[in-house]
Amino acid sequence: MKQLKTMMVFGTRPDAIKMMPLVYACRKRPEIDLSVCVTAQHRELLDDVLFRFHVQPQYDLNIMRPRQTLTEITTRVLTGLASVFEQAKPDVVLVHGDTTTGLAAGLSAFYHQIPVGHVEAGLRTGNPHSPFPEEMNRTILGDLCSVHFAPTEQNRQNLLDRHVSGKIYVTGNTAIDVLRYTVSETYVFSQPVLNTIDYRQKVILLTSHRRENLDGGLSEIFSAVHMLLEAFSDISFLFPVHPNPVVRRQAQTAFQGNKRVCMLEPLDVFDMHNLMNRCYFVMTDSGGIQEEAPALHKPVLVLRRETERIEAVLAGTAVLAGVERNEIFTCASRLLREPLAYQKMSLAKNPFGDGYASERIVDALVKIV
Ligand code: UD1
Ligand code: UDP
Repeated sequence: MKQLKTMMVFGTRPDAIKMMPLVYACRKRPEIDLSVCVTAQHRELLDDVLFRFHVQPQYDLNIMRPRQTLTEITTRVLTGLASVFEQAKPDVVLVHGDTTTGLAAGLSAFYHQIPVGHVEAGLRTGNPHSPFPEEMNRTILGDLCSVHFAPTEQNRQNLLDRHVSGKIYVTGNTAIDVLRYTVSETYVFSQPVLNTIDYRQKVILLTSHRRENLDGGLSEIFSAVHMLLEAFSDISFLFPVHPNPVVRRQAQTAFQGNKRVCMLEPLDVFDMHNLMNRCYFVMTDSGGIQEEAPALHKPVLVLRRETERIEAVLAGTAVLAGVERNEIFTCASRLLREPLAYQKMSLAKNPFGDGYASERIVDALVKIV
């Protein structure tokens, strides 16, 4: 049997997390000869994921630099991948999502005339500047990929509206698959402080790192947190802080010494998912967390002006809380004051799939290529 030489290329934490179940699913299929290439657009965050899932990449471009620019990421990935593709000659390349690694890897494969499969295809806000540059990254990727694995029907429709070429498969999001591996009711955290917290109290999980929130948005979000702490004496925040130095500096200024905001180093994905499973609700500008939290029945306040995960808002598991302090305060207060509003959100059905997206992607892959 001729095997399909499949190369996955990813480089950031969110992409790595969502590609892990697909790595596992590919390894189970004798029709597929899988190799993994990491760009290491992220270093520590990526290595944590690879370590926890016992995945050793065959290729590592090791491109990360402190305060890297989008141009640097793009050019380093393009340059690095050229020799990898020339040497490995994959039949198909799989990229993920909307990061600059994803776009540059797709473009490089296109230059080498290798078919590209796009995992998590078709997400759109419709605003080319938000999220920046992710909306443009995924739009261009949609145009150059030959097969699209769309998590939802809405994502498929977005691709059809754009008249992309190639086949589209609606698969669910592999983000939900990951939870099958990470979450357990009896989980013991590797970060000791997380084992000392009383999760019957109202513990709110906070994350924020988006480029478009760095200039103004973060300070609005942090002010909203201060307003909430003043208005509600029974709440506290857990805040794993992204390693981006711009985020870290602003977080330190806002919360250093505050006993009700526990700032943590980035959590490994097992700790993170189990923390999400135990917290009261989530406030975040993350993409992936908007998918995971609903699957764990946790309401999400999305700290952005727009979301490409509109399904969660329509299903009632997420509220678009914006990036203005009063608006965020109002949305969070409602969840804290109104048990029925909280219950309605936590019971709403997760719209991102049943946890078997990876298996569907592999089934499609072996059939079409
Ligand atoms: C990138 C993705 C974004 C994703 C985010 C996930 C693009 C354009 N954006 O954000 O979609 O939501 O990753 O976190 O691809 N850093 C470290 N160690 C790490 C990772 C980052 O020190 O392991 C620091 C570095 O100083 C780096 C900075 O964080 O320069 C920002 O990393 P970068 O990948 O450029 O982040 P974003 O583009 O903001
Ligand atoms: N995550 C993690 N540790 C953290 C923060 C996030 O493991 O300290 C996980 C989170 O559960 C999700 C992914 O990282 O699976 C999301 O990454 P991020 O928010 O950095 O990127 P985005 O999804 O916004 O692109």
